[in-house]
Amino acid sequence: METVELVEQLSDPQIEDLWRLYQGQWWSQGRSLEAVRVMLAHSSLVFGLVEESGGRLVGFCRVLTDFAFRATLYDVMVADGWQGRGLGRRLLDAVTQHPRLKQVSLIGLFCAPEMTGFYEKWGFETPSGDHKWMRRAQGPG
Ligand SMILES: CC(C)(COP(=O)(O)OP(=O)(O)OC[C@H]1O[C@@H](n2cnc3c(N)ncnc32)[C@H](O)[C@@H]1OP(=O)(O)O)[C@@H](O)C(=O)NCCC(=O)NCCS
Repeated sequence: METVELVEQLSDPQIEDLWRLYQGQWWSQGRSLEAVRVMLAHSSLVFGLVEESGGRLVGFCRVLTDFAFRATLYDVMVADGWQGRGLGRRLLDAVTQHPRLKQVSLIGLFCAPEMTGFYEKWGFETPSGDHKWMRRAQGPG
């Protein structure tokens, strides 16, 4: 089976692979390559899974954080054909074990209801009760 390695920086071709992965998700379709480059430049931590031979990006997620109190995990994706082989687990292990995130008080994420079982494996839980996530939509993507 093809070996996959974890990287924390993407090459130009891998940025284009990421753009293609975004086009395949309902929540990120239409993101432009230019905006994806801006996003990567300003994300606190980036995690990519790349094929050892060829270097194609087949898994990705990223974190925005202050490295002290709060971090938010975004864009967890494994390419079609690679799902169900433990790559999602590698991404979440990498995030939850990252030395620069160990001292952060709280890691949050937003996900569809059917995804909660996946994130619960790493100790994420749905807060009960009185707090609501609010948002101000300002454009596509
Ligand atoms: C969600 C996703 C990242 C999981 O990646 P994956 O490589 O298929 O997951 P893995 O093979 O590493 O699975 C790890 C574990 O999570 C479980 N799992 C996978 N998807 C799950 C789900 N939707 N709900 C509950 N558990 C799930 C697996 O059964 C496995 O459990 P085990 O190790 O205890 O046997 C992948 O399916 C994906 O990219 N989906 C489309 C994009 C998406 O919806 N991202 C989430 C945005 S919030």
